[in-house]
Amino acid sequence: MHPPSIHISFILLCIISSCFSSQSTDTKPLSQNSIVLDLSHVRSLYTPSMTILNSTRYDFLDIIEPVTAYIDGYLLSLNLGTPPQVFQVYLDTGSDLTWVPCGTSSYQCMECGSNEHSTSKRPTPMFLPSQSSTNTMDLCGSRFCVDVHSSDNRFDPCAAAGCAIPAFTSGLCARPCPPFSYTYGGGALVLGSLARDSVTLHGSVHGIAPLSPVAFPGFSFGCVGSSIREPIGIAGFGKGTLSLPSQLGFLGKGFSHCFLGFRFARNPNFTSPLVMGELALSSATETDGFLFTPMLKSFTYPNFYYIGLEGISLGANINGSTAAMAIAAPPSLSSVDPRGDGGVLVDTGTTYTHLPGPFYAAVMSSLSSAVPYERSRDMEDRTGFDLCFKVPCARAPCAEEDDELPPISLHLAGGGGGARLTLPKLSCYYPVTAVKDNVVVKCLLFQRMDEEEEAGGGPGAVLGSFQMQNVEVVYDLVAGRVGFRPRDCAVRA
Ligand SMILES: *[C@@H]1O[C@H](CO)[C@@H](O)[C@H](O)[C@H]1NC(C)=O
Ligand SMILES: *[C@@H]1O[C@H](CO)[C@@H](O)[C@H](O)[C@H]1NC(C)=O
Ligand SMILES: *[C@@H]1O[C@H](CO)[C@@H](O)[C@H](O)[C@H]1NC(C)=O
Repeated sequence: MHPPSIHISFILLCIISSCFSSQSTDTKPLSQNSIVLDLSHVRSLYTPSMTILNSTRYDFLDIIEPVTAYIDGYLLSLNLGTPPQVFQVYLDTGSDLTWVPCGTSSYQCMECGSNEHSTSKRPTPMFLPSQSSTNTMDLCGSRFCVDVHSSDNRFDPCAAAGCAIPAFTSGLCARPCPPFSYTYGGGALVLGSLARDSVTLHGSVHGIAPLSPVAFPGFSFGCVGSSIREPIGIAGFGKGTLSLPSQLGFLGKGFSHCFLGFRFARNPNFTSPLVMGELALSSATETDGFLFTPMLKSFTYPNFYYIGLEGISLGANINGSTAAMAIAAPPSLSSVDPRGDGGVLVDTGTTYTHLPGPFYAAVMSSLSSAVPYERSRDMEDRTGFDLCFKVPCARAPCAEEDDELPPISLHLAGGGGGARLTLPKLSCYYPVTAVKDNVVVKCLLFQRMDEEEEAGGGPGAVLGSFQMQNVEVVYDLVAGRVGFRPRDCAVRA
């Protein structure tokens, strides 16, 4: 989900999304280009009569997958094996390994008991390697095995697998990759072994042909039997050898996601697009309204996506004049230092944006003096968020444009003053209660980094998935930049 020392927050999104179930959600999806509209046909693609394209035959292939909102993040469907077994996994730009619950015995998840994931009576779906005709174990000498073991010596996994020295130095060791453990921030951990199998996604040749299933053979992923705090699988979208876009050949291009609002978390009728390939880049230009900021390099965490942040301003950008209240970010957020620390990590596997203590305090203080509403200390205590306001609402549903909570803008580095990204208000403030006595309580869903995180180095701040709702984000790996464009991301499925 993120490099060690960054922690994930599971706070209350289930409560939040259920707030909306009683209200009418009259969201009108924007018209999309035809290829994205084709997403609505995604479910019908996997019929036995469909031809599955062979990915190795196409140079100009774009992948377009529907993404759905979940309790605390966004999910992608992975079709693994032959015939495909389907798994919903988190889309995580803050890690590399893709894994699913897998094996013949039931999935053991420690410390997963108190959250939403385990309330259903059904056992966790498991990938069954024996049911796939194309499944193999990954071998100790493969670059994926070496990578997952993160060892300095590429022969270590084969030594651990019990190969004789002449076999592994000559590359002839055919032993399976030894079991691995893979660590996330916040003490989460998964244990498993590396398998290889086909992964089938929805592809379009040249970005214009109709979507068809495309099989990528030999995809290396974790067959995970037990974990701590990881209830379902994860698809790693980092830049490392193991990551999904890396294995499928998209790191030479790029990818984009446009996350629909968390208010759709229980609604199967809406999805939003993940695009990998040329199409992700060709549709993202300044003239289309994208703001770009350079991708920064971290020597400590080269596999992740970093950007610079120069400040945050509150309030609408009236007639192009800069907002009165701009709060400068500390220098540690606008660049990565020579040790590889600092910068802002773009992490879809972290729910809320985390800011370092003093900067967070400055933003909170400006905001609380700019907002004309009474604080709700009660909801602050109950939710753990630091700023909650009692917002008048005469008649539900109250549109977010009508309240006086100031829009929040991120001043992105290197934009010549122009890269000012104003986040959608619902991606910042969220109703945590139903409307009662003409009042709805809305909280600011940002968090401060904990002191341990700040002391431990690593990223200076984290941009989380909640703040990326209804913002199209493009990871342009050709130009080395990240682009943002606010828009309605919901597509009727
Ligand atoms: C896919 O195409 C490649 C190259 O043409 C071929 O070697 C491979 O066997 C094909 N795979 C399948 C599953 O058809
Ligand atoms: C999804 O659409 C179906 C058919 O239009 C409708 O009956 C159902 O209530 C919708 N579900 C939600 C959660 O809106
Ligand atoms: C912004 O510009 C419009 C038209 O140019 C003008 O009517 C309005 O008064 C301006 N608003 C402010 C706050 O300057």
